[in-house]
Amino acid sequence: MTGGLPLSPAVFAILAGLIEQELGIHFAAEDRDLLATKISPRCIDRGFDSLLDYYYFLRYDAGAMLELERLADALVVNETYIGRELDQLSVLVGVLLPELLATRPRARIWSAACSTGEEPLTLAGLLDDRGLLSRVELIASDVSERVLNLAKEGCFSGRALRALPPAAERWLRFDGATARARRDLLDRVSFQRLNLTDPEAVRRIGKVDVVVCRNVLIYFRDSTIKSVVQSLSDALNPGGYLLVGASESLLRFGGALSCEEHGGAFFYRKDPT
Ligand SMILES: C[S@@+](CC[C@H](N)C(=O)[O-])C[C@H]1O[C@@H](n2cnc3c(N)ncnc32)[C@H](O)[C@@H]1O
Repeated sequence: MTGGLPLSPAVFAILAGLIEQELGIHFAAEDRDLLATKISPRCIDRGFDSLLDYYYFLRYDAGAMLELERLADALVVNETYIGRELDQLSVLVGVLLPELLATRPRARIWSAACSTGEEPLTLAGLLDDRGLLSRVELIASDVSERVLNLAKEGCFSGRALRALPPAAERWLRFDGATARARRDLLDRVSFQRLNLTDPEAVRRIGKVDVVVCRNVLIYFRDSTIKSVVQSLSDALNPGGYLLVGASESLLRFGGALSCEEHGGAFFYRKDPT
């Protein structure tokens, strides 16, 4: 569908407000046509021909939470690939993590918007290559159940494989144009559904040493980023690191984490004391 169903400024305001409240994803007034285009196919699929009726469904129906999850798929690009922004992960696993593990027997790493699983697989592969996998608990979460189900399957093709680092030969088993994650690597990752804008859900994860939260904050407005970063900082153990995407600097927010550069990549660190 091109264009989408009509979306008046008044309905846009309540619909965009509900989406931001529930998912954190921000649409500014000038994005009205974009939102209409993205949301209309789901609205029609659910049997509605008006976005106001769809809003009432999202707001008041018992199945609204499930529909909001599905909507997240339509609103956010799930784009990811094995080895994405690899330098940052390599420095984490090759330099920063061994330093942390010198002070504690085990560490917990959380890939907090893991999409279809390429990021946690990359982490598991890098950790295995360094002989560190058995000392790390890997958690991976996303707001969308659909992408999590794909992540758990560990079957990759097409764009997911477009920038494979040479080391990925060890992490994957190839069958024509498809690659399957090694079962022992995948089994080390525990997947769960989690909405990052829900501070209570973040608290339930418990304390972690590293949060990898890349290429999702771009969908949130500044006030949402601030509160998400606050709950992620609270989840970090002293000396722990928060990793964001290359285009997602947190410097303008100040806050409790200090920005450090290691090997050309940026990391936000919680005070070790
Ligand atoms: C572009 S992907 C990023 C994947 C991976 N971190 C990377 O950098 O390649 C963004 C992911 O954020 C997820 N997402 C969007 N809003 C979210 C929220 N409120 N809580 C948790 N995940 C969310 C989407 O479902 C999507 O899978």
